[in-house]
Amino acid sequence: MQKLLVEGGHLLNGKVRISGAKNSAVALLPASILADSKVIIEGLPDISDVDTLGHLLEEIGGTVEKRGQTLHIDPSQMTAMPLPNGRVKKLRASYYFMGAMLGRFKEAVIGLPGGCYLGPRPIDQHIKGFEALGAKVTNEQGAIYLRADELTGARIYLDVVSVGATINIMLAAVKAKGKTIIENAAREPEIIDVATLLTSMGAKIKGAGTDVIRIEGVQELTGCMHTIIPDRIEAGTYTIMAAAQGEKVLIDNVIPQHLEPLLAKLREMGVQIEEGEEQLLVHRGGPLKSVDIKTLVHPGFPTDLQQPFTALLTKATGTSVVTDTIYQARFKHIDELRRMNAQIKVEGGSAIVTGPVPLEGAKVKASDLRAGASLIVAGLMAKGITEITGLEHIDRGYSQIAEKLSNLGAHIWREDMTEKEITQLQNL
Ligand code: EPU
Repeated sequence: MQKLLVEGGHLLNGKVRISGAKNSAVALLPASILADSKVIIEGLPDISDVDTLGHLLEEIGGTVEKRGQTLHIDPSQMTAMPLPNGRVKKLRASYYFMGAMLGRFKEAVIGLPGGCYLGPRPIDQHIKGFEALGAKVTNEQGAIYLRADELTGARIYLDVVSVGATINIMLAAVKAKGKTIIENAAREPEIIDVATLLTSMGAKIKGAGTDVIRIEGVQELTGCMHTIIPDRIEAGTYTIMAAAQGEKVLIDNVIPQHLEPLLAKLREMGVQIEEGEEQLLVHRGGPLKSVDIKTLVHPGFPTDLQQPFTALLTKATGTSVVTDTIYQARFKHIDELRRMNAQIKVEGGSAIVTGPVPLEGAKVKASDLRAGASLIVAGLMAKGITEITGLEHIDRGYSQIAEKLSNLGAHIWREDMTEKEITQLQNL
């Protein structure tokens, strides 16, 4: 087991290249199940979630070959192998095996998904969609059993705007008989990316990226080649890091429109950002001003950037209020930031940040992926060394984070934990 050490106070300079989008990748890999020949996905991020999903595809009989950032997936020999336990529980996105396996085999058994604990994360809307398409869904001993004699297109209104449910229903519906309409669909760029892959495979999908998606079922889907979109959350995280501790940082391989709510808030704080076609240049400006943020469904401020942004706010002058309307309990990073001298209190579903305060290095624990990113942002600004455990969460979603930050001039490195440290961590 390893920990991450950050010696704060060093200015960041230079260029960082953003990897492929994690939240696309975790849907694109399961989507390959629906094809009857080889699917090639290019530009995948080097993260443990992609490795886990690759292994899961092999568990059900697929052949998966990794060549650099490209995965060659041959789904032709896959079967409806039940996946009630094991790797499937490591990440939440394994729920996409439900939609994809249901779509191809009309049956699936998938252990209830794990992933970051951000408060309750129900999947009732996914189930509602599968049932509307004709599947019988039961929950037995922690696994979801799905079975259908036939899948038939349906009109499905999502009661909650959900990325996962929108994608999962698309996966189940592309080979269903007739027309499916998903109303109140989520509009994230990752949904468009999945729809693009499915369309290249032969699916008929209209409206991805809007709140009404129309799917005309087809009988057959074939292999294809697809290049993944850049990770807007990784790009946003580095933009925040540049605002926190950068002198002049170029964020490369980014779609600036995907980051509009973040860029608007950073500019409101006084950060200077120049936008190119696929690049952002973040300059060191004067003192930062406090701002309030409220996370919303896309295209609102993304909940996944709330935690790293909160760390930045400790540097701003004044009081900032952070409200997460998507995951009201996504505040596990706050106690850790407090250990580093941040002045933040959580009151009625909002975090109130008072700044500026000089952060101090401390021993902290990443409780989830974006909490980890938040602690790195804080560590870059802090005086002294910050020691971050819970690295397995960070490695699930940030490709080569220590290397990328070292290249920008940060002092950041991994160390093996001693037996004593591991025991202490497990007893916390
Ligand atoms: N919800 C329901 N019922 C459902 C599904 C969702 O009530 O059936 C609620 C959730 O509890 C939440 C809201 O709807 O309050 C939105 O959830 P959504 O389904 O959109 O989230 P998700 O698909 O499980 C994805 C990302 C998350 C990101 C959210 C919101 C993936 C694999 N995960 O999760 O990413 O926070 O959308 O944008 O795409 C991360 O990258 O760190 C991460 C957690």
